[in-house]
Amino acid sequence: MSIRSIALVATMVVASLPGAAVALAQDAPTRRPDVIYVPTPEAVVEAMLQVANVGKNDIVYDLGCGDGRIPVTAAKKYGARGVGIDIDPQRIKEANENVAKNNVGDRVRIVQGDLFEQDLSQATVVTLYLLPSLNVKLMPKLMKELKPGTRIVSHAFDMGDWKPEKELDVEGRKVYYWTIPKR
Ligand SMILES: C[S@@+](CC[C@H](N)C(=O)[O-])C[C@H]1O[C@@H](n2cnc3c(N)ncnc32)[C@H](O)[C@@H]1O
Repeated sequence: MSIRSIALVATMVVASLPGAAVALAQDAPTRRPDVIYVPTPEAVVEAMLQVANVGKNDIVYDLGCGDGRIPVTAAKKYGARGVGIDIDPQRIKEANENVAKNNVGDRVRIVQGDLFEQDLSQATVVTLYLLPSLNVKLMPKLMKELKPGTRIVSHAFDMGDWKPEKELDVEGRKVYYWTIPKR
């Protein structure tokens, strides 16, 4: 992991700890998010969708979708359908505004909830920008629910012992790519 990623993990973990300063939104999340909101830069979003070869037959799930930029871009530029899941009502509000602003409401659905409790079985592509520990915790769920051949792309963080098939450097950021193996 690069120095930049280590610094980013430290910031994201510390900010997620109990007692850390959090925005006092009127609509508080049902539970504290596992990681704070940090948006993926647009150039990295593009690289993530391109490495997964996203097209009009895909359903792209972004787990922890923030302002929804990944599913919105997947729909608007690549013709895919998208599902964005986030636990924070403020992010859900921003994501729904983003969907409306970009006129992709017919193809993108934003869901408020815990990513660990959602049914992911319809996804053909899953995108992540979480934390190394969350990726590892998520791996059994991905292996169980996703169809063989489903593509997984993670910004910044790998998946422990599961070696990526592709690894990109995009403007100093890492992007990792895997496919769900045959059972
Ligand atoms: C680092 S941001 C990534 C945002 C977006 N995917 C992107 O790449 O721009 C992580 C997001 O995950 C959300 N999150 C954290 N824990 C979550 C959980 N258990 N379920 C759903 N969303 C969660 C946060 O609210 C935050 O918006």
